[in-house]
Amino acid sequence: MEKKKIILTCPWMPEALMALKRDYSILFPNEVPPGREEIITLAQEADAFCPVFTDAVDKALIDALPGNVKIIASLGVGVDHIDLDAAKAKEIAVSNTPDVLSDDTADLTMGLIIAAMRGFYKGETKLRKGTWQGATISSLLGRKVTGKTLGIVGLGRIGEKVARRAKAFNMKIIYHSRAPKPVLEKELGLVFCPEMGDFLGKADVVSLHCDLNDDTHHIINENSLKMFRKGAFLINTGRGKLVDEAALVKALASGHLGGAGLDVYEAEPELAKGLAGLENVTLLPHLGSATYETRTAMGLRVKENLDAFFATGKPRDPVT
Ligand code: DGY
Repeated sequence: MEKKKIILTCPWMPEALMALKRDYSILFPNEVPPGREEIITLAQEADAFCPVFTDAVDKALIDALPGNVKIIASLGVGVDHIDLDAAKAKEIAVSNTPDVLSDDTADLTMGLIIAAMRGFYKGETKLRKGTWQGATISSLLGRKVTGKTLGIVGLGRIGEKVARRAKAFNMKIIYHSRAPKPVLEKELGLVFCPEMGDFLGKADVVSLHCDLNDDTHHIINENSLKMFRKGAFLINTGRGKLVDEAALVKALASGHLGGAGLDVYEAEPELAKGLAGLENVTLLPHLGSATYETRTAMGLRVKENLDAFFATGKPRDPVT
């Protein structure tokens, strides 16, 4: 049987690529990332389009895909880069790669909580600049992590894993989400805070793990930042657009927030004006799932989605 043809938009991990090549013909663009004209050209003979979480798959692109493209099998858990309504209107299936990146993202979140609260960046900068004069009792003091109150926004797969890790630091954990999760609450001793203001006022560190959608866009904004405890910390390993970055810069510069740990940005790869110059932020370049193991697993999960879709008409991880 002739192999199905799939479009990739960038190089994938070798093991995932080898697995794909066994069962599929891969259409590679000449340019990485490809322009949309090139995607549309490749799509004329493709059965599937496999973008990654940084590719914008908007309505114009989806509308221009020919009818032979039956599935958009994305590498990544977030689907805010895909116009799901446009895909639905054209009856194109969409899939993502949940689960396989949850541990890495939760690990990175804990790393950022510690880095932000203990002031890693400030200390490291002194060392690298050669301005460190040795440890003293009262310099470079951060905030204790153990025993503090962690506020988790969105108790999905990743939020839950962060909660489990935070338990090992003896943190008190409160959460804000669409609905309470009584079973987890009981197991991990979590407290549900349905009201955002109440939630923000109770946390020493707030970590964002909700999906990005119309309801959560700028969930952290000038107003909600005022509701944080003075000196509290914000961690974002979710999506940059959850936060009004300009308002965050102001809250950090004024000292209202003690600090932040960020892995994602509102207009990646750009940073909001003033952010990079702040000493009380730890900035990472969207590394949430960036390990050899996980990026390989994400590629293999795309293959599972394609396999299931071409065998049954339904991907393993359908997104609606
Ligand atoms: C995703 O998969 O959406 C993540 O942002 C990757 O780290």
